[in-house]
Amino acid sequence: MGKYDFDKVTDRRSAWAEKWNIKDGELPMWIADMDFETAPEVKKALLERLSLGAYGYTYIPGEWYDAYISWWERRHGLQMSEDELIFSTGVIPTISSSVRKLTSPNENVVILTPVYNIFYNCIVNNGARVLESRLFVKDGRWEIDFEDLEEKLSDPQTSLLLLCNPHNPVGRIWTKEELARIGELCKKHGVIVISDEIHCDITDPGKDYVPFASASDICRDISITAIAPSKAFNMAGMASSAAFVPNKFLRHRVWRQLNTDECGEPSFLAVTAAVAAFTKGEEWLGELNRYIYDNKLYCEKFIAENIPDAKLIHSEATYLIWLDCTNLYDKERDLADFIRDKTGLYIARGEQYGPGGEGFLRINLACPGSFVVDGMERLKKGIELYRGNL
Ligand SMILES: Cc1ncc(COP(=O)(O)O)c(C=O)c1O
Repeated sequence: MGKYDFDKVTDRRSAWAEKWNIKDGELPMWIADMDFETAPEVKKALLERLSLGAYGYTYIPGEWYDAYISWWERRHGLQMSEDELIFSTGVIPTISSSVRKLTSPNENVVILTPVYNIFYNCIVNNGARVLESRLFVKDGRWEIDFEDLEEKLSDPQTSLLLLCNPHNPVGRIWTKEELARIGELCKKHGVIVISDEIHCDITDPGKDYVPFASASDICRDISITAIAPSKAFNMAGMASSAAFVPNKFLRHRVWRQLNTDECGEPSFLAVTAAVAAFTKGEEWLGELNRYIYDNKLYCEKFIAENIPDAKLIHSEATYLIWLDCTNLYDKERDLADFIRDKTGLYIARGEQYGPGGEGFLRINLACPGSFVVDGMERLKKGIELYRGNL
């Protein structure tokens, strides 16, 4: 038994939680936020801040920079300095503003699919085009097709690569060698990298991710890295994140656009939340990661024993699993909708993550074990009914 209680069920419906905006009896395991309360140390800091009663404008204090710098240095071996960090109200705002600033209409942004679906919105809504390079599975591991990637990067119309590190939804932690190779290819073809590292603090116990900017000097020089406490500390609603841009010319451009888009000012809670998470949340995060890991192992065993047609590759980062149902999938009938309709289990359909996502389901395991047990029973029942109806 650890110090923190992750079995506790907190009713989030009264807080208008997006995830729980569902019918009675449904079980939501779709959107990527957690059902756990944040670290008690963070909650305490926020309550203290709230108790002041004055909620005006906030500047970005030295404590905010220090919190990020020491967390990334201590936990991830990345050196950052104060002038290289920019506050942003979210990772998606950072990506959208960067795409808008760094591409001309109809230039390409390369993504590795299947990938977080909102990447498509960030690209298309800012006038650029999506160029997809598909991941593939080899020896039970998701891999980048480097030949295909280089072909896409070498298109003279390609200006950006939007990387998800670690990768949502497949749960891969890219290695230093893979990242350095990406950096080299991008440098060779004049492509800037935006590395979305929002999931980086949810990893299997004992495993760490590799920040893109730490993989090589080239990687450091050609990248914009989007980081945040939001996924690991369940504070996506705080609108609190940072962009790390070591190259000063690039940084100026990103900073200008974030300000033009009015995404550069923190709410009064955004700073407190980030500082508390990165200075007081480490022990809690360690226990959280062990809990999520146990949830993953439970599902892997359950699926192997009860849903033999579905295949699951271990997800080493994020609290998501990416379930391969291509063996039983029927294009004419949506599997995720069917499961929701028959069992109330609400999970994400693979198609929305782009090419390579067809026939997959994304399931969020950042919830008490009792939900996971319930979710797996519903999944089994839903898939049995789906197969019976084929
Ligand atoms: C890969 C990835 N990036 C970004 C986000 C959202 O970031 P934000 O809420 O900071 O805009 C998510 C949320 O699920 C995500 O999975």
